[in-house]
Amino acid sequence: MISDRKLSHLEICRDRNVGSRGKPTHLADVELIHCAMPELNIDDVKLSANLFGKSLRAPVLISAMTGGHPATKKVNENLAKAADELGLGICIGSQRAAIEDSRMEDSFRIVREVSDKLLVIGNIGAAQLLDDNAVNIAERSLAMVDADALAVHLNPLQELVQPEGDTRYKGILKNLKKIVKSLKKPVMVKETGCGISREVARSLASTSIAAIDISGVGGTSWAAVEHYNAQLRGDKFKSEVADTMWDWGIPTAMAVCEVASLGCGIPIIASGGINNGLDMAKCIALGASYVGVARPILLQAFESHIAVSSKLERMVHELIISTLLTGCKSVEELQRVPKVIGGDLLNWVNQRGLAVVKGA
Ligand SMILES: Cc1cc2nc3c(=O)[nH]c(=O)nc-3n(C[C@H](O)[C@H](O)[C@H](O)COP(=O)(O)O)c2cc1C
Repeated sequence: MISDRKLSHLEICRDRNVGSRGKPTHLADVELIHCAMPELNIDDVKLSANLFGKSLRAPVLISAMTGGHPATKKVNENLAKAADELGLGICIGSQRAAIEDSRMEDSFRIVREVSDKLLVIGNIGAAQLLDDNAVNIAERSLAMVDADALAVHLNPLQELVQPEGDTRYKGILKNLKKIVKSLKKPVMVKETGCGISREVARSLASTSIAAIDISGVGGTSWAAVEHYNAQLRGDKFKSEVADTMWDWGIPTAMAVCEVASLGCGIPIIASGGINNGLDMAKCIALGASYVGVARPILLQAFESHIAVSSKLERMVHELIISTLLTGCKSVEELQRVPKVIGGDLLNWVNQRGLAVVKGA
């Protein structure tokens, strides 16, 4: 059943408009200051990075999307091949379907089979942390793909609007601490399109997690996905509830500021509606260290690894150009670059009392 749902989710994301409806990422509220005399050549811009012990050619990850049904294997292979070709990393989709049915392992394992050098991040849901066997589930998830790290995804909105969703959340932080202590590999926490607030980031900082993916509003809406899912099953009640909650959450730009202003030192991965390299540069200028892309490359992932690779290559090129045009040559410099923020983002940081790094 989980396996069929995984495929249905993937197809809904491919075929329906499940983007945020009225709430953007608010990255348009960020202006990077143009440097007309960069004193740099394009080859001087080096965006190479390290994450979880692996080297990346650019600080870009393919965010968690799929696996868990035989038909998803090819999609994962295309994503992994593209990531490997470009020297980027990949987080696989929730491994729950394969934990419950080992015949599904193949659809995830293919990602590691593409390359030993590839940064592969495993994935389990916060609800699985509440299982008595949580440590064992986490260890099996890591071992299944020889993962370099494990992502724990938080998705309370999706679970609440999903027919048969999990509605227990008590005890997640306590169990997260246990998992982080027990595992030999780093653990990161990610949202799935609703953003992470400063308060949640502060709680997460009390564990020893290795990264936070803020995954904010402005891209894929899981309420939208569940709205269509409920419609397909003739569940009018859930479909209407999901429709109401379509744009719920913290926009991506705001979520980066929320977590960055905490200054807890946990690297931030920015995702949620990242459509191009300029979006990426703006997220880094707000304090992120890495960026993630999911649905903007989904159509390409159904097509071929070349299609994924060329779209991501374009984004990375745009990130390099944006970095050069601000007079920077590295991620670290871009994180401290001068910027101007306005509109709703300025309003948000003022009302929330967030300290935005203004740049030198
Ligand atoms: C088809 C699809 C499947 C996804 N499945 C998962 C998943 O299994 N686990 C997870 O942590 N996130 C999952 N996500 C959420 C993404 O990792 C990401 O956080 C979110 O989609 C926002 O990024 P985007 O706007 O670039 O799509 C999925 C996203 C898509 C589009």
